[in-house]
This record gives sequence, C-alpha cells and structure tokens, in this order.
Amino acid sequence: MQRLIPTLRRDQVAEGLISVINTLQICAKEISYRLHQGELAGVLGSTLDENIQGETQKKLDVLSNQLLKDILLENKFVRAVASEEEEGIVDGFADGKYLIAFDPLDGSSNIDINSMVGTIFSVLPAPTNERSGADMFLQPGHQQLMAGYVLYGPSTMLVFTTGKGLRVFTLDTTVGEFLLTDENLEIPTDTCEFAINMSNYRHWQPEMRSYIDDLLAGETGPRCKNFNMRWIAAMVADVHRVLCRGGLFTYPWDNRKPGKPYKLRLMYEGNPMAYLVEQAGGKAHSGEQRIMDIEPNDIHQRIGVILGSANEVDTCLSYLQGSQSKPSNV
Ligand code: F6P
Repeated sequence: MQRLIPTLRRDQVAEGLISVINTLQICAKEISYRLHQGELAGVLGSTLDENIQGETQKKLDVLSNQLLKDILLENKFVRAVASEEEEGIVDGFADGKYLIAFDPLDGSSNIDINSMVGTIFSVLPAPTNERSGADMFLQPGHQQLMAGYVLYGPSTMLVFTTGKGLRVFTLDTTVGEFLLTDENLEIPTDTCEFAINMSNYRHWQPEMRSYIDDLLAGETGPRCKNFNMRWIAAMVADVHRVLCRGGLFTYPWDNRKPGKPYKLRLMYEGNPMAYLVEQAGGKAHSGEQRIMDIEPNDIHQRIGVILGSANEVDTCLSYLQGSQSKPSNV
C-alpha cells in the first residue's frame, strides 16, 4: 500500500503543500494517540473556560489546538494559522506561502462518550498584496489549495484533496504511517439517507420543515420512497459517511439564538467540507449560494450548510427557494 508522501509526489503536488500535509499528519498521529488512550491519558472532560464561540472547552480541544498551532508554526511554509479555538490569527513565517484554518477537534461533545471526532483543515494561499492580519484569510473557498479532515474513529483516517479528487489514508498503528486505502471517492447522485439534528425542527424555516416532512412521509408521501436518518453530531463523521455512501447532511438556518441563525463555521467547517464534497461529485450550498463562492467577512463567520448527493441537495434547495413542483419519485 502506498504511503502518504510518495502519493503526493506522484500527484505532483507542490513541495510546500507536501510539507504542510506532512506536518498535519504528525499532529494527527499525536491527537489520535491521546484520544485512543482516553481516560488513561487524563485528558477527558472540560476545562473551566469557554472558547471564542462561547462553547465550553474540552481539555482535548485545548490540547489539540496547542499541538496544531505549535507544530504548524514551525513549518517555514506557514504564513499564519486561524483556529476555532483562537480569537485572532496567529502569525508564522513572514514569507510563508500558506494560511491554514482549522477546527482542532470537531464534534468534541463526543469525546466523553468515546465516540467519533475529527480535525478539519483548509489551506489558502497567503496573499501577495498588502493584506495583513485576519484579512489575509478572507478569501472564498474556491481559492483553497488543499482541504481535508482526520477522522478519529475505530481507525484513524486522513481524507484530503488538492483538487485532483479525494485521497483516503488509514493510519497503520503497527508502523505509525498513513497508508492509501481509497482514492477518487464518488458520492452517489441520489440517496435515501439524511442527517439533521431533528430536535431543532421547531426552530427551522417552514420550507425546511416541509422538506423534512416529505422525507419522513416516506413511500406514502410525495417523495414515494423511504428515507433513513443518521446523526453522529460530529460533522467530520457525518460528512465521512456521506462521502462513503451518499446522503444529505444539513445544519440549516434556525431561530434559536437571536441574531445567530447558523451553527457551523465557514472557514474551517463549511469551506473544507464543500471542497471535498465537490471533488467527490456532490454539492455544497449555504441555502443562498454555493458555499465555496461566499466572500467571507470574518474568520469565525457562521453559515448554513446543505451538502451531499447532488440531486438531493437540489431537491432540498427547491423547497427552500419555494420553487419545488412536488417531486413524485426523485
Ligand atoms: O462544530 C460543531 C458541531 O460539533 C459539528 O461537528 C456537528 O455537526 C454539530 O456541531 C453538532 O450539533 P448538535 O450539538 O446540534 O448535535
């Protein structure tokens, strides 16, 4: 089986990007090791702090963030990093070519129940103009040079793209190496599976409720087929399932918190996942536009996310845009 770096050389990926992914996989192995040690490593549970998003920080959130930050900032190709756990950006090398946005431990409420979590990353070019500070990161997702995630599950997997399809690597713990186990995943165009946090039903727009009602109505409803539902509550794990066997994943607009209608973040959740999904032939939309075309206005900006099997994303959007002629057997 092929190892990570030779695969990238074969794909003629730029040396700087190879160096960045190499650094990321070193961090991934460290985080994976601590997670698999679980309670034995004394890293489960929460800190007394909240992150910039107002969420309780888990000890492993803090540890993963520190690891990624420290190790990435030693890489001479890294101009700056932006993290879910940091209010502002952190500068690296002044002549570094790349900006890295990351969510160090996505789905961290799963840590304490020994369930799946992940690390998400997005690599953008460092601007050559006079932009500085956080403004450097405010580029639409279609400018990403590389994006991916590490899924810490029964096995640890590294899934990423440099714009030439997806590469899936599995950590062989016997030799401590990521080995290529799948390439060019393709998301089936149609699906009978969806992922949404149903407990928020009452907070959604009527159009989203109506879309979900029709999925739930199954073969006796307008969709004329039964749908299954899955919700792991870690975007990495839910998107991984969609990449492997199709499906629709959404965290839509809702009215729970006044002025804060979205949960997921653009720069280190929406954009990297959108890049992967599109590379696998799927679609990723905010409800208003293609995610990767959004011009960001803040490194912690939140957006709606609807992604997965292309035809199902289109059907969902037809409800949201009020244009659906009730599907009969989509
Ligand atoms: O980043 C936030 C996150 O943990 C995602 O990974 C996941 O999809 C979602 O929140 C889970 O949300 P909820 O708590 O509503 O199930």
